[in-house]
Amino acid sequence: MRKKIVAGNWKMNTSVEEGILLAKQISFLTKDLENGVEVIIAPPFTHLAGVSQVLKNEGGKVHLSAQNCADQLSGAYTGEVSAKMLEDVGCKYVIIGHSERREYYGETNETLLKKIEQALSAGLSPIFCVGEKLDERESNRHFEVVAEQITEVLYKLKGFDMSKVIVAYEPVWAIGTGKTASSDQAEEMHAYIRRVIGGKFPALADDISILYGGSCKPSNAQEIFAKENVDGGLIGGASLVAQDFIAIIKSF
Ligand code: 13P
Repeated sequence: MRKKIVAGNWKMNTSVEEGILLAKQISFLTKDLENGVEVIIAPPFTHLAGVSQVLKNEGGKVHLSAQNCADQLSGAYTGEVSAKMLEDVGCKYVIIGHSERREYYGETNETLLKKIEQALSAGLSPIFCVGEKLDERESNRHFEVVAEQITEVLYKLKGFDMSKVIVAYEPVWAIGTGKTASSDQAEEMHAYIRRVIGGKFPALADDISILYGGSCKPSNAQEIFAKENVDGGLIGGASLVAQDFIAIIKSF
């Protein structure tokens, strides 16, 4: 069964104290939520232990994600954080392949596959991001680019592992720009992503949650989430303001 999911990617924002407060607010405001949406927050690494404790104390309705993990199991990899460490601290999810990681840190499809494999073997569900850049959309290559991101990484997984993956479509031109994909553009790409997944995993395609990300906010979430193939959102800026994040969650 496809899950409805709203995930907040805090990126490199908030002090630990601010993050703890934000997590408390989000937990409190989602306590009576009954629309079946799985709520996830992805704070920076330094916040995970503290936020994990808050989420446990508040009853565990909000789930914890990291924003990245190492592509290796353990050992001499200075500065890296393993998937197992994330699982230890209470994460259930990890974002992998965000366009900011692909672009600023040179993460390739090969690295991303290793990260997904590490996440899965540690028991985490990867939130795998795909999406085209502006010039790729303008030159009408967006379908081709997204298909390649999927076939080069997700096609290499076994079906059992694929069933744990969440896909996030984040057109790079819509991230942090205030420019959202229209609900029709989102639906068109989400339906396409589902077809591409079906090319390798026909029995799973219908059950994979595909989230939209890119300037999603309270004013546009409802229209986007109403589309048949949009199963929720990966929210950046608006997830840093508890009331906005809650309003997006309640848009379902
Ligand atoms: P914004 O919602 O700030 O555009 O960010 C989207 C995003 O990159 C979530 O991962």
